Amino acid sequence: MKDMMQKLREASIEAVARAESMELLEELRVRYLGKKGELTGILRQMGALSAEERPVMGQLANQLRADIEGAIERRRQRLGEALLERKLQQEALDVTMPAKAVRLGHKHPMYNVLDQIKEIFIGMGFEILDGPEVELSEYNFDKLNSDEGHPARDWTDTFYFTEDSRILLRTQTSPMQIHAMETRSLPIRVLAPGRVYRKDEVDATHSPMFHQIEGLFVDKGVTMADLKATLNLVVEKIYGKGTVTRFRPHHFPFTEPSCELDIQCHKCGGKGCPTCKGQGWIEVLGAGMVHPKVLAGCGIDPEVYSGWAFGMGLERLAMGEYKITDLRLIFENDERFLQQF
Ligand code: DAH
Repeated sequence: MKDMMQKLREASIEAVARAESMELLEELRVRYLGKKGELTGILRQMGALSAEERPVMGQLANQLRADIEGAIERRRQRLGEALLERKLQQEALDVTMPAKAVRLGHKHPMYNVLDQIKEIFIGMGFEILDGPEVELSEYNFDKLNSDEGHPARDWTDTFYFTEDSRILLRTQTSPMQIHAMETRSLPIRVLAPGRVYRKDEVDATHSPMFHQIEGLFVDKGVTMADLKATLNLVVEKIYGKGTVTRFRPHHFPFTEPSCELDIQCHKCGGKGCPTCKGQGWIEVLGAGMVHPKVLAGCGIDPEVYSGWAFGMGLERLAMGEYKITDLRLIFENDERFLQQF
């Protein structure tokens, strides 16, 4: 019996020490110490022992049970630690792993052009102004010398909010001239880019919303020569040195005299091609000397001060610079288009 217990001791201690999981450990406990287990099986044979041997064997059996239980408990603890360790390792952050690449977007091509123009004017001491897109007709038209009968005021041309035609989506950035002259002290140098709205059907060159950049300079002794020099400089910066310009007489209610600025077509050098629609020239902006009535309306004495102003379409400029053939591409935000810039 003693031998049997010794064998059980050796076999069980070794099996427990090799058990690789909690489940297996539990199986071993049942196998060795359970009600139908091996130790119980040995103890059943106690009846065959003499009265002197019985307590000695009983004590040995108790010691064996305690030792196997102790071995199981130690193994359980060891397995628990290993399990925890493995879990911690699995969950550990590896800070040396390369990070997932973040896909950064980039500036919209139209805003690239806008930033280029802003930079030129900031370099000349201009202040960048942001103004309301919902405007009073007083600012969009009246104070710009466009009275009741002006065709741009028509309901088929303009988005009005009210029946009395007093509140509207601005049709041009020119009202920013008035805001600037009413709030700034002289001399005034401002550049006001922003959205404008007209009741235009969408096609390759029209959109009911587009962008303009307004420029205004008011001081003593400002002349048309200053306007021409400034705009020529801007054109050279955008379209390259030596770009030929033409100041063509035009009419705007809020400037006198007024003109449009054309650049000679850079594609054909003025001969006429599809880019310039056979004209040899491409219209870039409207400009002129601020009308004395407009100055006076803003409390500026036209006998003392004079100024020039211009307004240009930003989309058209971007289309020219990036050879974009359809205005709609600029607003659709199709990644296949935007990724090209
Ligand atoms: N606001 C005019 C337009 O939308 C453009 C313009 C012309 C602006 C002459 C000006 C200017 O400042 O002097 O057609």
